[in-house]
Amino acid sequence: MRDSDAAFYITKVDCVRPVRSSKERADLTGRTSAAIRIARMCGIIGYIGSRPGIPIVVGGLRRLEYRGYDSSGVAVLAGGRIQVARAVGKLANLDPHLAGLDANWAGETSVAMGHTRWATHGGVTEPNAHPHVGRTGRIALVHNGIVENFLALRAELAGDGVIFTSETDTEVIVHMLERYVNEGMDLERATHATLARLHGSQAIVVMRADEPDRLVCARIGNAGGVCIGLGEGESFVASDAQGILEHTRDIIFLESAEVAVVRAGGVRARRIGGAEVTHKPHHFSWDPVAAEKGEYRHFMLKEIHEQARAITDTIRGRVDLETGVVSLEDLPIKPGSVPDRITSIGCGTSAYSALIGKFLIEGIARIPVDVDYGSEYRYRQPLVGPNSAVLGITQSGETADTLAAMDEARKRGSRVWSIVNAIGSQAQRVSDGHIAMRAGPEIGVCSTKAFTTSIVDQYLLACALAMARPDVDDSRNHARVLARELARLPNLVGRALDANPIYDELARRFHHREHFLYLGRGINYPVALEGALKLKEMSYIHAEGYPAGEMKHGPIALIDEDMPVVCICVRDGVRQDGLANRAG
Ligand code: F6R
Repeated sequence: MRDSDAAFYITKVDCVRPVRSSKERADLTGRTSAAIRIARMCGIIGYIGSRPGIPIVVGGLRRLEYRGYDSSGVAVLAGGRIQVARAVGKLANLDPHLAGLDANWAGETSVAMGHTRWATHGGVTEPNAHPHVGRTGRIALVHNGIVENFLALRAELAGDGVIFTSETDTEVIVHMLERYVNEGMDLERATHATLARLHGSQAIVVMRADEPDRLVCARIGNAGGVCIGLGEGESFVASDAQGILEHTRDIIFLESAEVAVVRAGGVRARRIGGAEVTHKPHHFSWDPVAAEKGEYRHFMLKEIHEQARAITDTIRGRVDLETGVVSLEDLPIKPGSVPDRITSIGCGTSAYSALIGKFLIEGIARIPVDVDYGSEYRYRQPLVGPNSAVLGITQSGETADTLAAMDEARKRGSRVWSIVNAIGSQAQRVSDGHIAMRAGPEIGVCSTKAFTTSIVDQYLLACALAMARPDVDDSRNHARVLARELARLPNLVGRALDANPIYDELARRFHHREHFLYLGRGINYPVALEGALKLKEMSYIHAEGYPAGEMKHGPIALIDEDMPVVCICVRDGVRQDGLANRAG
């Protein structure tokens, strides 16, 4: 790979963006786009222990701010009663309401939980913000997900005399819980009974004034994760480990259809309506400092500049630089285990990474690869079986469509592999083998370093597969040479990022344009798709990625002097054809 090639692969086309005020930029990078990316995932934090709970919960919510939200709230159990504070807008808007809480729990266990909401049912109003409380005010709930049958449940509860105070689907859950508690169940049993009535994917955390020694949390389906952090005499709950890593590195992940009772001294989990389950905590080595912005204006810029480091980490210990032998610690490829065919699955940026991986795996290992969107895969009748492997590519490891596709593949008898950044995430847990991206926390609104590291992971996988193929000597030797070449990549990437003032200049020149076209041929076509996605997502400029050779079959009609066209045209075998496009 040459320097200029690296520049093309690593160039962040989002730099060509409108010059906006810093506030607008912060909003763009910190809120709106994040919300789109996480597809309406709310943030949840819970705490039980001897320290004051509110600062811990609010600090955790702040760490989840990148998810985007429109309102937030906190519930605290102190002095035998539950108090709630909620506010619309930024987390800072909650501060004056927190000051009004009487959280003087002297000597008691401190129990608190918080939520950042991204509205689904009901507008962005304080009554719709979480936590929601039951009629007696003695049960409070935070929720992530959608209760698909909430209209029927709402009608049923209204028939019992419940008067709803919000327009949310969530509120039915807390009234349902209260109904079961009034019938004599404790909070855990009431949670089992309530969840059995809900349709759809849910993650919840609940507190009850009459059971002040516990939080109860549960997960059904893939609406969002439930992580339980284990500390010394204190426990934490979060929708995303990122929210609690500053307090503990030992984290349990609830699987779907599990309910856990979380006490300061530990956790007990059960299948819904069933037996107890034991979870071994995952130990996180991620440094929470890595999740700070440092000197960068925003996380995305920081993460763009982390690519060289992330790629070094991705290669480290996996390639023997003397022999070129590749070993993947959690996905050992043996001569007898090479699949006949691979289907790579992802959404958004991860799907484009998979398209690039197709070139790498087919080119290096000579194994056919199909690529599918996670959101489409289960809507056809995919042909997979014991000799195939389905490879889920996902930064978060929690993208519901990708998980559903992996699930579908397993049901059809395929083995399931994954390339995942978030340690301990669902995608990793359900895989027969996985490759850790090692990109470090990706907090920015758009996937950047996870895109490049997942490509390097697929390159490594391609080399490992080629080396395990007993039938193709040439491929094996070629793969060893290619694997050794990877050692040069971090330096090339670093140079491409450091020394190039061209991006700012391009941004100044083109930020007023309304449409962009990105063209690429061969492996550069998915790079063009990714470039167009980044521009749309970050700059709100309409952009399309297109295979360069397809221009002449219609879309060329759109091109005039106002349409900037970005050609990904590196020094490879198709460069001349790309240049011919320009001439044509
Ligand atoms: C684009 C972006 C999204 C994600 C997609 C999949 O910048 O970030 O398109 O790539 O939502 O997310 P993961 O990789 O977490 O499954």
